[in-house]
This record gives sequence, structure tokens and C-alpha cells, in this order.
Amino acid sequence: MSHQVDWAGWLQRWDEQQAGYLPDREEQFQLMLEIVERLAGPPARFVDLACGPGSISARATRRFPQTEITGLDLDPFLLEIARQTTASAQVRFAEADLRTPGWDAVLGDGQVDAVCSATALHWLDPADLEAVAQTLGRRIRPGGVFLNADTMRLGPDEVPRLDALTVELRDEIWASSHAGGVEDWQTWWDAAAAEPAFAELLAEREQRFANRWRGREITLTDAVQSFRKAGFTEVAVLGQVADKHLFAAIR
Ligand SMILES: C[S@@+](CC[C@H](N)C(=O)[O-])C[C@H]1O[C@@H](n2cnc3c(N)ncnc32)[C@H](O)[C@@H]1O
Repeated sequence: MSHQVDWAGWLQRWDEQQAGYLPDREEQFQLMLEIVERLAGPPARFVDLACGPGSISARATRRFPQTEITGLDLDPFLLEIARQTTASAQVRFAEADLRTPGWDAVLGDGQVDAVCSATALHWLDPADLEAVAQTLGRRIRPGGVFLNADTMRLGPDEVPRLDALTVELRDEIWASSHAGGVEDWQTWWDAAAAEPAFAELLAEREQRFANRWRGREITLTDAVQSFRKAGFTEVAVLGQVADKHLFAAIR
């Protein structure tokens, strides 16, 4: 299958599609790696949580050539893109469902220095996020760091007008990206579905996400409380555009 498919092209198309949702996505990724290095030093072990096609992992291999990198995700199709495009002895892509206790077994023994994630943890509900934070609290070494660039609502119950404002601003950013010709999420997936070589992986994907259920969308407060409760000593937002936050926590 791999000889027929332009894997690098699919990754590039993914990156372009995702950039429509996360303003300054490339800069955000570079900033995250910079923050990791400043807070925790060049990491010995680094995790790209819900890595998709390896977006952060690929950049981390270039920035930290000595680092052992693990990218985790549940989607077999996106993981295949990751494996096909970021093949390097220092990086490994593994399957894990962040909603399942013990998902971190794929990391093997010991702690890690840094965990980064982007536009993914909003797929979890608040209880799952809390469990993930607890796991990361055990898995990230003291002084290590967790960074997440993602949608975190301000909370329709907590600050209804401010929450609505950030969603409105977010929707305008998305609309402007798509009006400017950036491909949207659905179009990317429809194109993938039209590629016969992907049929098996996409069927498996559908099965794995069949029970994707979210009780309630996570809020910034959920994230702050979960990571404090999990033993992180400093938890703060380092950047915000509309409902997208660059969230940081030091273990
Ligand atoms: C929008 S993509 C972002 C991927 C990548 N971080 C990026 O920025 O390009 C969201 C990712 O979260 C993953 N994901 C969602 N729920 C998950 C779960 N329960 N366990 C593992 N991965 C999950 C999806 O499979 C998908 O790859």
C-alpha cells in the first residue's frame, strides 16, 4: 500500500487543514518546544499525546535529535501517516486510548520529561481529562512539563457572556480560514475516504471511535483544577486566542 500513497502529501494537507483551526499553529508548536527546553532542559523522554499523524513528534525530532519520543493516539489511520512520514530511530508511535485506565503502559517503565498535546484533549470529557491528568502526574518527573494547545471553553455556566464571545471569535477565525481557501476537517476526511488504499484503516478508525461520547465539553477551569489536583506545582495559561489556550503545567 505504501508505495502507492503520497504519505508526505497527506501529512502536509493535514497540517494545512489543521492550521485553519489553530491560528499560528506552526509558531505554537515551536513555542511549545522552546518552553519545554527552557523549563525542563532538552528532554531525555518526550511524549506527543494524541499525536494524530505525528505533528508535534516530527518537529520534536528536529529540535531534540537525542530525545526518545513517543507519539500516542487511538486512530490507526493517522498513526500510519505518522509512521510513514516520521520514521526515525528516536521516535515510536503507539496505540493508546486516553479514556482507558492504564493507557500509559505503552510508555514502558519510568518517567518522562515532557508531554505536549495539540487540538486533541477537547475530545475527552471532564472525568477523562481528570484521569489523564492523574496519570500524567505520576508519569511526568518532578520539574517536568505538560503543555497543551487546545480549545478550552471559558465555561457557559461560569462566564456565559465571555464564553459566548470567545466561541464567536473562534467561529470567525474558522470561517475566515475556510473563506480564504483552507480545507476544512470534513473535506479532508472525505478525501481520505475516497482513497481505496485507506479503506481498512478508516473502517478500524470508525469502530474505535464509535463510542466517542462526551458528557460535557471541558473548560479551562476543568483543566486547571485537574492538573492542580494531580500534583502539578504551577498551572497557568501562557497564551490565548479566542477559546484556544496554550496551557502549561509544571510537575
Ligand atoms: C485534531 S487531531 C490533532 C492531532 C495532532 N495533535 C495535531 O495537532 O495534528 C485530534 C487527535 O486526538 C486523537 N484522540 C481523540 N480521542 C483520543 C483518545 N481517547 N485516545 C487517544 N487519542 C485520541 C484523535 O485520534 C486525533 O488524532
